[in-house]
Amino acid sequence: MGFGFERTSFLWVAVFVLVLVLCVCSDGCDLYEGSWVYDDLYPLYDPSSCPFIRKEFDCHKYGRPDTMFLKYKWQPADCDLPRFNSEEFLRRYKGKKIMYIGDSLSLNNWQSLVCVLHASISQPNITVHTIDSITAVTFLDYEVSVMLFHSLYLVDIEVKEIGRVMKLDSIKNGDIWKTMDVLIFNTWQWWGRRGTGQQWDYIQEGNMVYKDMDRMVAFQKGLMTWAKWVDSAVDTAKTTVFFQGISPSHYNGTDWNDPGVTNCFGQMEPIRGSTYPPGLPRAHIIVNEVLSTISKPVYLLDVTTLSQLRKDAHPSKYTGLNVMDCTHWCIPGLTDTWNQLLYAALMT
Ligand SMILES: *[C@@H]1O[C@H](CO)[C@@H](O)[C@H](O)[C@H]1NC(C)=O
Ligand SMILES: *[C@@H]1O[C@H](CO)[C@@H](O)[C@H](O)[C@H]1NC(C)=O
Repeated sequence: MGFGFERTSFLWVAVFVLVLVLCVCSDGCDLYEGSWVYDDLYPLYDPSSCPFIRKEFDCHKYGRPDTMFLKYKWQPADCDLPRFNSEEFLRRYKGKKIMYIGDSLSLNNWQSLVCVLHASISQPNITVHTIDSITAVTFLDYEVSVMLFHSLYLVDIEVKEIGRVMKLDSIKNGDIWKTMDVLIFNTWQWWGRRGTGQQWDYIQEGNMVYKDMDRMVAFQKGLMTWAKWVDSAVDTAKTTVFFQGISPSHYNGTDWNDPGVTNCFGQMEPIRGSTYPPGLPRAHIIVNEVLSTISKPVYLLDVTTLSQLRKDAHPSKYTGLNVMDCTHWCIPGLTDTWNQLLYAALMT
C-alpha cells in the first residue's frame, strides 16, 4: 500500500515537472509555425501613404483591384506576434544603424521597414542618401538609419582580364557591414541564374578557376564563406546578425494543386493551413546547415514556409514594369510580416 502511494506521488511530481517544463518552453513559442488569418486591422499602413515604395512593389498604384491580400495576419499556433510599435522601436534603436544586405528581396524587405516606421510619425524628418551600393534612410528625430546594401551573392565579384570572376571565398564588403548595429543578410535568387541573368563569367575558389559548377554547391560554398566571416569578424555583442530565409516564388500551380497555372496572377487568397504541399526548398535546408556551423549567435528569420503560403501576395502584373512578377511582394504586404518577426526578435 505504502509503496503504491509513493509510486503515485512520484507520478504526480513527474507530471508536475513535465507541466512546468512545457509552460517554460511555450514562452519560447515558435513564431514561424502557424497560419494566415483575416484581420481587419491590417495592413499596418495605408498603401498611398508611403513615399518610398518603388514601382516594382507598388501594386496599389499600378492598379491591383483586390485588397483582401492586405488583410491577413500571421497567427503563430501557440502565441501572438507582437504588434509593431514604431515609436518604441525608434526610441530603442536611437543612434543605431540597421542594414539589409542582399538582392532585390532585401530591397523589398528594407522598403517595408521604412514604410512601417514612416507611417507612425506625424511629421517625419527624413533624409535619403545613396552612395555606391548603399542607400540610407535616416529618421533624423531619432537618429535611426535604415540602410540597404545591394549585393547579389554576398561574396565578391571582381572584374579581371578573363571577365567577371565570382570569388567564392572572399567578402571584402564585410568591413563596412560589421560597423552596423543590426545586419539582415539574404542571398539565393541569383545563384541559379544563367544567360544574361548570370552576373559572373568564372567562379574562383582558392587558386582554382571554374567555368561553372553545380549551383547548389556554389551557393553552399559562398554561404560558408559568409558564415566564417560572421564567426571571425563580427562582434555579436555589439551587432545583431540575422539571415533572411529563402523567399519562395509562385510560378507553378502544381505546387498548390492548381495544375496548368504558370504564375500568380488572380490569386487572391493565401493557402489555408500551415503547410505547403511541396515542402521546403533545398536552398532552405542548405541555409539551415550552414547556420548550424556558426558558433556566434545568428538569428534565422525563417520566412520560407509562411511566405510559401502567400501565393496571393506577389505583384503579378501590377507593377510599373512590363513583367509578370511572382517573385517579389507587394508593399504593403507580406514583407511587413517579415519585419514584425524582426521586431519580435529585436524587442523581446
Ligand atoms: C530636420 O533635422 C535637421 C537636422 O537635425 C534640422 O536641421 C532641421 O531643422 C529639421 N527639420 C524639421 C522640419 O524639423
Ligand atoms: C511544376 O511542378 C511539377 C511537380 O514538381 C513538375 O512536375 C512540373 O514539371 C513543374 N512545371 C513546370 C512548368 O515547371
